[in-house]
Amino acid sequence: MNGADMGAEGSGVGKKLFIKTWGCQMNVYDSARMADVLAPLGYRTADEPDGADMVILNTCHIREKAAEKVFSELGRLRTLKDRKADQGERMILAVAGCVAQAEGEEIVARAPYVDIVFGPQTYHTLPEMVARAHRAAGAVLNTDFPAESKFDHLPDDAASQGVTAFLAVQEGCDKFCTFCVVPYTRGAEFSRPAAQVIEEAKRLVAGGTREINLLGQNVNAFHGEAPDGSTWGLARLIRELAEIDGLERIRYTTSHPRDLDDELIRVHAEVPQLMPYLHLPVQAGSDRILAAMNRKHTADHYRALVDKLRAARPDLALSGDFIVGFPGERDADFAETLRLVNDVRYAQAYSFKYSPRPGTPAAVDDQQVPEEVKAERLAALQQLLDSHQQAFNQGFVGKTVPVLFDRAGKRPGQLLGRSPYMQSVYVEGGERLMGTIADVHVEAAHVNSLGGTIVTGVYESNSAGATARPAIPSMEARA
Ligand code: SAH
Ligand code: SF4
Ligand code: F3S
Repeated sequence: MNGADMGAEGSGVGKKLFIKTWGCQMNVYDSARMADVLAPLGYRTADEPDGADMVILNTCHIREKAAEKVFSELGRLRTLKDRKADQGERMILAVAGCVAQAEGEEIVARAPYVDIVFGPQTYHTLPEMVARAHRAAGAVLNTDFPAESKFDHLPDDAASQGVTAFLAVQEGCDKFCTFCVVPYTRGAEFSRPAAQVIEEAKRLVAGGTREINLLGQNVNAFHGEAPDGSTWGLARLIRELAEIDGLERIRYTTSHPRDLDDELIRVHAEVPQLMPYLHLPVQAGSDRILAAMNRKHTADHYRALVDKLRAARPDLALSGDFIVGFPGERDADFAETLRLVNDVRYAQAYSFKYSPRPGTPAAVDDQQVPEEVKAERLAALQQLLDSHQQAFNQGFVGKTVPVLFDRAGKRPGQLLGRSPYMQSVYVEGGERLMGTIADVHVEAAHVNSLGGTIVTGVYESNSAGATARPAIPSMEARA
């Protein structure tokens, strides 16, 4: 859920585009697509907003703090926009994403210097919006839920997304958990046609991607039209994607416990490219609170799913989301959350204080939990989750894990990658390992990462002298 600043190096030609992204992986994906839509107009992404011809803030509305950041950022950008105007040039300032969808008119009223405000479903029309912004004096506001899908209008030509890439397969939500804005900001649940997804996956792999993370607000509710006119679920889609040569790893996120069927669990046992890691949010451990949240499952139903998953794939690592201090949550309810966490033992998890969101049923519940109780519960929960995460990571010391290297580390000569279980693993290693999977002998475990050395080979002496023999067949170079 961490925000990320999107942006590759500026090429020095064309117009400069800066996109700042908050929120979930779907927003990261959307930002990359926005850059693709704007590329034919000459926009090239830059890594800072100063001097940019266009700035897009791709926003998140999930909690109050996330939404607040937009207005403070807009204040800062106004200065840059004015500075550019002093030089006789124009910076187009756009607000996109879930805050734009939920509070579009308020943005236009509070920040009249914003040129374009658009929601998550209309960014394929960015070229038109930019043209209108150039013509018109006032702000262009586009927060429709158009009947046609943006996915049918996005360019086939996409910038390379790197070693690991997101691919949206499903969007929107019909679940209406009583705390959540997503059904209002993203709209109704929608699945892309399977053929379109497979095409996009092939393009990504051709561009150097080795790992694809299939995205959806409820990704396991995927029910896309199949090439033969039938409907495929996520399990079938994953089986088909696993046929793509060069696609070494597949993941999917975020799943809802209610949509996790036996077929998907079987895929975890049978498809080696599907990584043994699953983000399966439960939110709370008390059935009373789960009912008030409208999650439509109980804690024991969730425990049973975890048991089935682990029976299918014993090394499966689980991740989750938790909300503490939901309206009406008593100490006994919170104790049930801790009990569930102790039963499941997450490899990693996100936890939040309940944040009342405008327009959602829980926000007007009269049993709001005091802030200090929320803070206490969050601290207790995070302490427990961290101890499990640390223990999970510690269990890898002395073991060897295959790591897909996908980014440079902080220090020169350091490379970062991910284990199958989503742990960040750092090693000292050459650039040539980027995009490859190599076995790493783990020597250090921290809460958020593992450190180790690459297993390069063993030396065997024979009468002809020392011969190097690669010990690890999975270590391959990228073509
Ligand atoms: N679709 C996913 C989650 C989307 S939002 C799912 O169904 O699980 C990501 C996470 O933000 C949620 O899982 C929840 O833990 C948290 N969240 C959503 N609304 C929130 C709110 N009003 N206050 C605090 N946390 C919230
Ligand atoms: Fe929000 Fe619930 Fe839908 Fe997840 S399932 S996006 S938490 S309403
Ligand atoms: Fe935030 Fe919208 Fe994602 S509210 S979490 S950016 S779906």
